[in-house]
Amino acid sequence: MKMKIYRCLICGDTYVGYEKPLNCPFCGAHEEYLVDGSEWEDRNTGFELTDVSKKNLEKALEIEISNSAFYRCAADKAQDKVVQGMFKALSKIEAEHASTICKLLRIPKPDITAVEVHCSKNDLENLKESSERETRASNFYAKAAEEATEPRIKEVFSALVEIEKDHLDLDHQQIERLSS
Ligand SMILES: [Fe+2]
Ligand SMILES: [Fe+2]
Repeated sequence: MKMKIYRCLICGDTYVGYEKPLNCPFCGAHEEYLVDGSEWEDRNTGFELTDVSKKNLEKALEIEISNSAFYRCAADKAQDKVVQGMFKALSKIEAEHASTICKLLRIPKPDITAVEVHCSKNDLENLKESSERETRASNFYAKAAEEATEPRIKEVFSALVEIEKDHLDLDHQQIERLSS
């Protein structure tokens, strides 16, 4: 087998491996956004942001920063090792979303490590809060995708809707496991 280079059209990060993963390992975007390194193009340039999209991206940035900080807190306090690993991964993915959004806003990415968000000592409580956060995020991104007139902004918000719904699915699985 030969090592290959794949690059994500949503977050721009590169994955090297034998095969194309089903999701971007960095932002969670679905397979269709992962392309061969030679086919990758920077889609963040060549257009102006409308006021509506700028406002929606700023709100999205707040959501991602808060969610990343929440997951970091939840991972630190986790009792269950599966939940701990999941929260840690989600914290990284939401931080990647924050930096993807900063690229679209054409601003430097903020230092998220300094942000503190309250979380519970109880895994189940945090899983429930996570599902509320992911629901709010995906609903907001669906609305933002609809409002966007720039194809790129529509594309990113639509990809984020799918990703946050995947997170919600993870929450439901772990809530079910811990409750049984
Ligand atoms: Fe990605
Ligand atoms: Fe996110």
